[in-house]
Amino acid sequence: MLASQPRSQTKPPIQTPDLPGITAPDKFSSGCVSCHVKLAADKDFRLVQAIKLIKGHPSIAAVKTVPNDCRACHSGKPGAAKPLSEAVHKAHFGKKSKSEFVSQFHGQCLSCHSIDPATGKQRVKSGPKNW
Ligand code: HEC
Ligand code: HEC
Ligand code: HEC
Repeated sequence: MLASQPRSQTKPPIQTPDLPGITAPDKFSSGCVSCHVKLAADKDFRLVQAIKLIKGHPSIAAVKTVPNDCRACHSGKPGAAKPLSEAVHKAHFGKKSKSEFVSQFHGQCLSCHSIDPATGKQRVKSGPKNW
């Protein structure tokens, strides 16, 4: 009987979310390096610093394009570091609602991923290192 009811009664109110690059501007168009920036001397959120907080992490001197070059080690192959997707997803969602990425940045997939609405293609955004 839905079809015979007035549209205003059957349709829920419009609730378009802010989807970066789809319904809203993309504030983090280069992904990792757009968000992991140095805001001040005591607020250095660049990845080179974030990585230092991971105990025993090897040097990332060879990384030029982020996160593409992280994959050289994070291949998930036997003996190599865990797949990049697992390392990065865990770093941002591991603490669930206590993850700062979730509580301060809406925990959006589209901070790191982008979807081209025309083609449907997904990619992981990237950019040159900022350190
Ligand atoms: C929109 C902002 C944002 C984007 C984009 C982003 N991050 Fe983060 N990242 C954070 C925040 C906030 C934290 C602090 C950790 C938390 O969520 O509690 C963090 C933490 C990290 C850490 C530290 C984890 C630890 O164990 O201490 C690494 C490494 C990291 N991010 C890598 C990346 C990489 C690689 C990308 C791109 C693929 C990326 N981030 C994209 C916001 C961002
Ligand atoms: C020279 C090799 C190497 C490079 C380059 C590298 N990593 Fe790692 N990374 C490791 C190893 C080894 C570990 C510890 C073992 C593991 O987690 O598989 C690790 C651990 C991590 C972890 C913690 C994983 C966890 O869940 O415990 C994160 C997050 C991470 N790396 C992010 C990055 C990011 C982002 C980049 C690029 C900016 C990067 N790594 C580049 C070797 C590397
Ligand atoms: C902080 C950055 C970041 C966020 C947020 C993020 N991803 Fe990812 N995602 C990555 C990276 C980096 C890779 C690995 C890309 C590669 O190796 O080419 C990846 C890979 C993937 C893959 C490929 C399959 C796999 O696991 O290897 C899927 C599917 C995926 N992400 C889904 C999601 C979904 C769904 C969300 C939101 C709930 C999300 N991602 C949020 C960074 C992120």
